[in-house]
Amino acid sequence: MNRRNALRAGVTLFGVPWQKVLGAAPSSLPDDALFTRDPETYWTRIRDEQFFLPKWRSFLNNGSLGVLPRPVYQTVAAYLENAAALETPYPYPRWGYETLDEEREELSRYLGCKKDELALMHNATEAMSTVAAGLDLKAGDEVVMSSQEHPSGKAGWAQKQARFGITVREVTIPLPPKDPGQLADLMISAIGPRTRVLSFSGITSPTGLIMPIKTICDAARAKGVMTLVDGAHMHGQMALKLSDLHCDFFAGSPHKWMFASAGSGFLYIREENLDRLWPLNVTGGWDDKSLKAARFMKQGTNNRAIFEGMMAGLHFAQAVGPDRIYARIHQLARRTYERAARLPYIQLLTPNDDRMFASLVGIEFKKDASAVWQEAAKRKIFVSAGKRVRLSSHIHTRPADIDQLFDLIEEKMGKA
Ligand SMILES: Cc1ncc(COP(=O)(O)O)c(C=O)c1O
Repeated sequence: MNRRNALRAGVTLFGVPWQKVLGAAPSSLPDDALFTRDPETYWTRIRDEQFFLPKWRSFLNNGSLGVLPRPVYQTVAAYLENAAALETPYPYPRWGYETLDEEREELSRYLGCKKDELALMHNATEAMSTVAAGLDLKAGDEVVMSSQEHPSGKAGWAQKQARFGITVREVTIPLPPKDPGQLADLMISAIGPRTRVLSFSGITSPTGLIMPIKTICDAARAKGVMTLVDGAHMHGQMALKLSDLHCDFFAGSPHKWMFASAGSGFLYIREENLDRLWPLNVTGGWDDKSLKAARFMKQGTNNRAIFEGMMAGLHFAQAVGPDRIYARIHQLARRTYERAARLPYIQLLTPNDDRMFASLVGIEFKKDASAVWQEAAKRKIFVSAGKRVRLSSHIHTRPADIDQLFDLIEEKMGKA
């Protein structure tokens, strides 16, 4: 019997009845008693049992795209298969016209906002492009951002500058910065009389700095300036309550840290801004303001399996536990920090302050490190190579993966 027939015959998929696979929560996580007794064995079992990662692979670049856990992969695969047989509970196995209320309701509870403030999208790039294109700004209006923005956080404003003559200004972030207060002061004091929007990352892409979002957003709001937070690195790394950040817009990419399938993103639009933002990609319903944020999801046919995978990623994150995840990835980042701090030819771009980084650690080589990267590729260490490197771990990262990289660096470049 092939797999399709097995499913139709009511057999199980990886031990789970196929009808229940959609959005499935992992059924076999190691238990909490093991975590309490022997956390390293708990995390080893998580890696071995919940991911497909082979033992020889060391993955230190979760910041670019996360790794799918097994239950998420299984959900996407099962959804596609069921959809091909038109066996999903919905009339069409798609999104792009539908409002996906159940999914948004659940995701909004996790993110700490209202369902009607949340539009599902493909990634943070799309979410930020929607904000940059969709706000009415005119020549002379100014957007201020930090010097640490990802190209996707800059491009929408650069395009608006080229088309409409707005001004874009960058605030230089010192590396490493002193403390959160310094970061807040720099961003707030950059607000000028023509500033209309502050656009900055909650966790910066190249360096992993955690920005003091609420302080900055409160000050901007007091001056009548809107705020767009690029949150691509936040949800999944740390527990969040979006409504407490006091930002106007927040762009997310759950496929980085929330275990979601690639191509799932979201845009949070603070309720009072719902009617002033123009949607970017439109079909019928784009102007129906009664839809609230769902108006921004009227995009045309899209792959619903991706979003079923996003929900499965959310369930996986919740089953492991956001606080437990944060504690683990920060512990791994500390290990990275301490290994890097020993080496005189490495400059840390991350400050020695636990409030200011989560999993991402930024380092800069003061001498040529190309021999390290050539050998890292041979030894199957997956890392974003270069003069400046951003190292990131998720819960499947083993402490030994970090040690393997730094042992290699010391082997090629010396200990002193
Ligand atoms: C801070 C930040 N924003 C946005 C992006 C773009 O994310 P996506 O490709 O998911 O849109 C990245 C990607 O690394 C990022 O680091």
